Amino acid sequence: MEKGKKMRATICIITIFFLFFTADAASKCKAWLVQSIPTDMPELATVHGVLSTADVLQWLAGNSSKSLDIIAQYWQLVPHPADPRSGDYGYSKEDLLRFGANEGLKVYKALENAANRKLPIRLLQHSGVSPDYTEEPSNLASGRPNVKNVTLLLSDWWGSGIVHAKVWISDSRDVYIGSANNDWKSLTQVKEVGIYLTDCPEIAKKVEIYYNNLWKLSHLNVSAYTRSVWDQQWQINRKVPCWSHFINPKERCRSPLPKYVEIAHVSGYPVLSDPYMSHLSMETPGVNDSSSNPQPNYLSFAPPELLFGKYQTDEQAWVDTIKSVGKGGTVRINSMDWLGQSGYIKETVYWPTLSSAISEVVFSKGAKVQILVAKWAHFINNTDQYLKSLLYSNTLCSSSKYNHCSGKVEIKYYIVPGYNSTGPAVLNGAATGNMYPGYTRVNHGKYAVSDVRAHVSTSNLVWDYFYTTAGVSFGTYQPAIVSQLQEIFNADWTSPYAVPVEPLEEGYACPS
Ligand SMILES: *[C@@H]1O[C@H](CO)[C@@H](O)[C@H](O)[C@H]1NC(C)=O
Ligand SMILES: *[C@@H]1O[C@H](CO)[C@@H](O)[C@H](O)[C@H]1NC(C)=O
Ligand SMILES: *[C@@H]1O[C@H](CO)[C@@H](O)[C@H](O)[C@H]1NC(C)=O
Ligand SMILES: *[C@@H]1O[C@H](CO)[C@@H](O)[C@H](O)[C@H]1NC(C)=O
Ligand SMILES: *[C@@H]1O[C@H](CO)[C@@H](O)[C@H](O)[C@H]1NC(C)=O
Ligand SMILES: *[C@@H]1O[C@H](CO)[C@@H](O)[C@H](O)[C@H]1NC(C)=O
Repeated sequence: MEKGKKMRATICIITIFFLFFTADAASKCKAWLVQSIPTDMPELATVHGVLSTADVLQWLAGNSSKSLDIIAQYWQLVPHPADPRSGDYGYSKEDLLRFGANEGLKVYKALENAANRKLPIRLLQHSGVSPDYTEEPSNLASGRPNVKNVTLLLSDWWGSGIVHAKVWISDSRDVYIGSANNDWKSLTQVKEVGIYLTDCPEIAKKVEIYYNNLWKLSHLNVSAYTRSVWDQQWQINRKVPCWSHFINPKERCRSPLPKYVEIAHVSGYPVLSDPYMSHLSMETPGVNDSSSNPQPNYLSFAPPELLFGKYQTDEQAWVDTIKSVGKGGTVRINSMDWLGQSGYIKETVYWPTLSSAISEVVFSKGAKVQILVAKWAHFINNTDQYLKSLLYSNTLCSSSKYNHCSGKVEIKYYIVPGYNSTGPAVLNGAATGNMYPGYTRVNHGKYAVSDVRAHVSTSNLVWDYFYTTAGVSFGTYQPAIVSQLQEIFNADWTSPYAVPVEPLEEGYACPS
């Protein structure tokens, strides 16, 4: 009898322990890095434990049982080889198979299945790009009251800019944030980096607030809520939402967005010394982890008028990542575009923010900063001048014998083979000789990683992405993610696809 009691008690304790343990294991936040690797890059070293974007997007659609919210710049999951306006035009079925276009079809099918099982789905995007525009989200929404679709034009609100974030939120619990567009090419012909979080309601619900704010903007009367003002920080006239901190506090309107912060007596958005960090203990199944202690994680958002709570601007989160580097440590930065200025507004803004942060850590911390910038068919022509200007920090660093400056900037162009042979296979009835479809063969990832902090973003490094364009980043001090992101960078940096950017020659004279 005594024995039986003991036994039952033991079983009970074991059961409670088991339930507790499994419940805990099942609900623990997990993080994986995610990549797309273009076909035909045999000399790129593989990084183990990284998931593929095509799989992750299918899983997000497939696993959703309560809701699925997607932010996209544009949609081209289904290839259009028969449409003469498409960059896919003229390629054969075999070509498309070889390019991996099936992966895009699979993601589209997974979305269609989710839509067919009456899942509440919201699709928010920019107007899209030629020739598809909003065809795919419209088709998904057509005849299905559970699928809502909206187009949000940020230029109505900020005078220029687009929705550029690439975010999937499933069941307010699982999230993808990264560089991959909803485009078949982003799965197998463009190099992408993102992060996949599962069982992380704490993070997913915050990203959802940003989502809801964008959704709300798309339904507000723009002319009632925008002003043209003198922007004191960037020294231009521009259009902003009427609650913007670029407007004199007395003249600002009350924000129609919930959870929005008001800060009086500032022009622009001040640096937060203590931005909100969640201290989640996070598993990293894709990479062996030596420390399972909870580490700080954060989100950052652009443009600043869409901030809420104690989140900081995306620009500042990039700066903080650069400045997180330890003495003598290394910062690795990957971006498709790099410009120390604006690129898409009427007046031109000079934007030294990131270059300045880099030079600061090179000088004071002796840090090494390595930067990869994409060279591709749609390369921005004045990139090279800005990169050379940044490389000049090395000359300044050693310009005086009294300088104790041991840091260094190193920059390489990343060239995906075939980049100079992209576009439709046929143009005006004639073969073009192109080897890959249009807008492919490019390193499109946007991230930075120091020796302690990883920052995975959706924004290119040009002023507009931080002030007029919608973008989201997830960052973490989780050592396993930090080291795996470094590994991803190193695989690219040491590959034959990365070629050094040459500094200005000594004794270079400006052209007269
Ligand atoms: C759900 O996600 C997991 C990984 O997070 C994946 O293994 C599984 O296949 C997904 N299920 C569906 C139906 O997509
Ligand atoms: C949303 O989808 C519906 C149904 O296909 C379509 O008529 C409408 O134009 C779409 N709206 C937007 C903003 O894409
Ligand atoms: C939008 O706001 C403007 C300016 O306040 C106003 O004139 C206009 O009537 C509003 N439009 C709608 C549809 O409410
Ligand atoms: C983790 O370490 C084990 C044992 O060293 C190894 O077999 C496994 O492949 C590693 N996993 C990853 C994702 O690196
Ligand atoms: C960049 O330069 C090339 C060659 O000079 C020119 O054809 C192209 O139009 C330029 N692109 C832009 C965006 O200025
Ligand atoms: C593309 O670039 C490669 C390497 O620089 C070169 O060998 C090749 O001729 C170029 N192809 C075209 C079509 O310009």
